[in-house]
Amino acid sequence: MVTLGSIQISKAQKAPQLGKDSLDEVIEAMTAEEKADLLIGPGMPGYAGLVPLEGEPDVRVLGAAGGTMAIPRLGIPETVFADGPAELRIQPKRKDDPNTYYATAFPVGTALASSWNTELIEEVGKAMGEEVKEYGVDVYLAPALNIDRNPLNGRNFEYYSEDPLVSGEIASAYVRGVQSNGVGTSVKHYAANNQESNRLRLNAHVSERAMRELYLKGFEIAIKDAEPWTIMSAYNKINGVYASANEDLLTTVLRDEWDYKGIVMTDWFGGYPGFESIQDSVSDVVAQIEAGNDLLMPGAEKQKAALVKALKEGKVNEEAINTSLKIILAYIIETPTFKGYKYSNNPDLEANAQVTRSAATEGMVLLKNDNEVLPFTNKSGTIAVFGDTSYSFIAGGTGSGDVNEAYTVSLIDGLTGAGYTIDKGLQTAYVPFVEKMTAKEMKRREENGGLLSDVQRIPEMPLDREMLAKKAKASEVAVITIGRNAGEQHDRKITNDFYLGQDEIKMINSVSDAFHAEGKKVIVILNIGGVIETATWKDKVDTILLAWQAGQEGGNSVADVFSGVKNPSGKLTMTFPVDYHNHPSAENFPGFPAHDPSEVFYKEGIYVGYRYFNTFGIKSSYEFGFGKSYTTFEYSDLKLSESTFEDEIEVTVKVKNTGKVTGKEVVQVYVSAPTNLADKPSEELRAFAKTKALKPGKSEKLKFTLKAKDLASFIDEQSAWITEKGTYTIKIGASSLDIQLTDDFSVAKDITVEKVNNVFDLDAKMETLKN
Ligand code: BGC
Repeated sequence: MVTLGSIQISKAQKAPQLGKDSLDEVIEAMTAEEKADLLIGPGMPGYAGLVPLEGEPDVRVLGAAGGTMAIPRLGIPETVFADGPAELRIQPKRKDDPNTYYATAFPVGTALASSWNTELIEEVGKAMGEEVKEYGVDVYLAPALNIDRNPLNGRNFEYYSEDPLVSGEIASAYVRGVQSNGVGTSVKHYAANNQESNRLRLNAHVSERAMRELYLKGFEIAIKDAEPWTIMSAYNKINGVYASANEDLLTTVLRDEWDYKGIVMTDWFGGYPGFESIQDSVSDVVAQIEAGNDLLMPGAEKQKAALVKALKEGKVNEEAINTSLKIILAYIIETPTFKGYKYSNNPDLEANAQVTRSAATEGMVLLKNDNEVLPFTNKSGTIAVFGDTSYSFIAGGTGSGDVNEAYTVSLIDGLTGAGYTIDKGLQTAYVPFVEKMTAKEMKRREENGGLLSDVQRIPEMPLDREMLAKKAKASEVAVITIGRNAGEQHDRKITNDFYLGQDEIKMINSVSDAFHAEGKKVIVILNIGGVIETATWKDKVDTILLAWQAGQEGGNSVADVFSGVKNPSGKLTMTFPVDYHNHPSAENFPGFPAHDPSEVFYKEGIYVGYRYFNTFGIKSSYEFGFGKSYTTFEYSDLKLSESTFEDEIEVTVKVKNTGKVTGKEVVQVYVSAPTNLADKPSEELRAFAKTKALKPGKSEKLKFTLKAKDLASFIDEQSAWITEKGTYTIKIGASSLDIQLTDDFSVAKDITVEKVNNVFDLDAKMETLKN
């Protein structure tokens, strides 16, 4: 009690309130326990759709991954976080509740990025954010933008590219779109989280140059351009220090150099070699918070006990604690929850189904189309459809990136809906086979970790030669779908995943032989989330459409491209190699010891993806930036605003549709830079854009502005981004190898664009690849 004249006021009534009193006053009033409650999440009540366990609080959004705790005494409400990134992952059904809570399964990250269309991604983000807000979620745990260092990473489907500019620009657009709804995002997983094998214990050895030029760059772009509310630190260690306790990463680079103001949260149980290893030891929790990791997710009682102890014994830097508390409180004030938003639990799923249907078509990449088999406009005969996945299309990957959608349109349904007639005999044979095999596989997954189980492909249904000969006579064309799925916690396998299985090779061979003998064409649809081998079988078929995991409207999206309603305009954001071992990272993936890797050495340095293939002259099956169209484009009128670079240079180029149908073209600006101060890739993507839909004969002038930072490389010896003096070549490409126009400009003297800190010291000797 305090006494004011004759009035007595109880202290309880006087507790400062969030939103009314200053953040400092609220923090000042907090007990050690309350501070721990705010800095450490509430655990996972209701996670993965579990009904809260006894003693746990009731959950607002069933299946949400976590959030921040309420402290009612100080007017602090709980806030809710849910996955991401192909849309919300929440439980669609709740106990004693007739309503459903389905979310729209949008195309996976790779599919979205393959559109190279940032305006489109922003629209998709807007639609996603509407579902986030209307389902009562405050922070959407997406986007995910780690670099595709190696094709086998089980989570590449969630990510965007082997190139950081593509990753950063796509993520920025996504964040802008989602956050335009007044909800937050969490850009993840910061950083160098490029594999799933042993992700909780893995030490990634990465040079500072590779960190800055590749693994941080996309984050830097997204953070500076789009100001995400939160960042999620990665599970792995970087040069010996867990990402979530890495001061170089979370404070020196993120806050000091990039001026990031939002929350950093750990990945779930990140910073420990395993959930069971979380102890009430003060050092782990303190190391994370002092390094700049504000929020420990999902939060465990042992962590709280450790933090309370550290606070009471003065064993934790109070300034770090107060900074994190302030950041979290400032976030809470901005949330829909704090603002009292009355969410409807009724987002516009119908409208969003149209958004995903259309977005998926723009990310599809036409890899091959001999004799213009596609678009296939003949609807008079029947189509023979092969491949298990045709009958059970894969909308997206597994793990936390999975979405509980109400339905997935199969290829069969999509084609039928578009007015094609499907061979009924094949359908009658495939449907029960696929159902039986899928049920078996789902049971296996359920018994092997459920959401986090590995994924095994179901075998292809054996095809009889005589039957095939009959089908080839009776149908107009053959369609074969090759499907792949993967997800969190497991990397993909080389055999029977990256390389096709024997059953798949047999299917492609026998169907192609039978149909080609009758003069009929064979179309392959790739319903995959990551790169597979294509070089050994692509010549056997006429057309290959890379549809990716195209979301819940997948079958309809493919049908739109198949029929020509939509012209595919996606291009590859990663290399499709001839052989897995062509990737330099193959020697160091997933690390050492091979059966249980705890160390991985990024010996390829900056030579990831096309930076390696192009520089070292290694032939790929389909190169970075490649993708065909139903029309053709002509590039002309390349102009540079000056021949000597001062502060920036403007590049303009004209692109004309010279074919017969409307189409969009992805235009890529590569730059070759001088190499006196350091070796560099033969060229690097420095800008890109997509034309609008150009009618035949129409053209568009595209303009790109390149600043010194866009041209700079990280020069280790000087701890600086430097744009070197010398001659630069601008290469306007339809792909990274299909360079249409070039021109040169010069830089008169070295420009130090940015001096930075010397960070990420290696903790073990490592030579990196040099050109
Ligand atoms: C994943 C994160 C995800 C989190 C919450 C982790 O296992 O790595 O991407 O956001 O779980 O579900």
